[in-house]
Amino acid sequence: MAAKREKVGIIGSGLIGRSWSMLFAAADYDVCLYDIDEKQLSGAVQDIQKQLALLDKQGLLRGQLSADQQFKNISTTSDLSQCVENADYIQECVPERIELKTAVYSRIDPIIKDTCILASSASALLPSKLAANIQHKNRFIVVHPTNPPFYAPLVELVPSPWADSDIVPTTKSIMEKIRQVPVILKKEIDGFVLNRIQYAIFKESWRLIKDGVISVEGLDKVMSAGLGRRYAFMGPIETAYLNADGMYSYAERYAEMIQGIMATFREPDQFGGETLDQIQAEMEQLVPMDTLQERRKWRDRRLAALAQLQKKLNEE
Ligand code: NAI
Repeated sequence: MAAKREKVGIIGSGLIGRSWSMLFAAADYDVCLYDIDEKQLSGAVQDIQKQLALLDKQGLLRGQLSADQQFKNISTTSDLSQCVENADYIQECVPERIELKTAVYSRIDPIIKDTCILASSASALLPSKLAANIQHKNRFIVVHPTNPPFYAPLVELVPSPWADSDIVPTTKSIMEKIRQVPVILKKEIDGFVLNRIQYAIFKESWRLIKDGVISVEGLDKVMSAGLGRRYAFMGPIETAYLNADGMYSYAERYAEMIQGIMATFREPDQFGGETLDQIQAEMEQLVPMDTLQERRKWRDRRLAALAQLQKKLNEE
């Protein structure tokens, strides 16, 4: 008899719930997708089928299964108990509001298996707050994906302070099995790591535009034609390591200069007012508001092409 497939319950069928469903289905998990809103759920099914067909066309389907087999691995339910009963892993994907998420946990807490991993897709809510009042707080972890998960595979793993010792290694191996790239946060912090770095870039970008140092167009080019090129396959630490002969040599050559520049950084500016008007106006010149959808498609085509290139390079 074939081994029983592991069951994954996905709660919430929006943008992120759909992506998780596809990622688990590709690795042959038995996926059960639930949403409070039945229209969302039927929309999700149609969208997943369309997305799988597109990935197939782009040569970007994961795993060995056909698009059709992957699609068949996903069932839906409008009954929350059915979604989580006997699940080995649950990924909660409801909107980023603590009262919504904790209400879901209190409903599923009495039903889930004691060995189940209860993961939240939360972008910024801390596991110590999310899991504080649940019985299964020892099984709780934040598994924060990067959007769009198919093209940007990073996931941040942030365990609850009460997590059993198997939670992090098991979640990590599940993420590797579905071909995402997990990183482990040794402790929780507001914004986790990805968003903290993203906002540090945003803070300085804002300031440079406000102070009249550079235009919006120029600033975006600094990232897309400069830093972003390197960071597509290597982080800032290895970049520094290679730019000199290791970290000691980098520090010897550049520490004084870097510290001097860092000392000129200032506190965050207010996110609004005239600078917001200026940035919006400059962006509208570059990408008119009635072309956003077109521009998103342009972005997604490039993300897909990058993913294809990276897949090819990894196979070499
Ligand atoms: P979304 O708004 O696209 O989808 C949320 C879904 O949850 C909707 O289908 C809604 O009907 C459903 N829902 C609402 N209340 C529910 C309940 N009580 N039970 C079951 N389903 C319920 O939101 P999205 O973007 O998918 O975000 C979900 C989570 O993922 C949030 O915590 C968000 O911060 C996080 N996240 C989002 C990213 C993004 O770029 N959109 C990236 C990484 C994480």
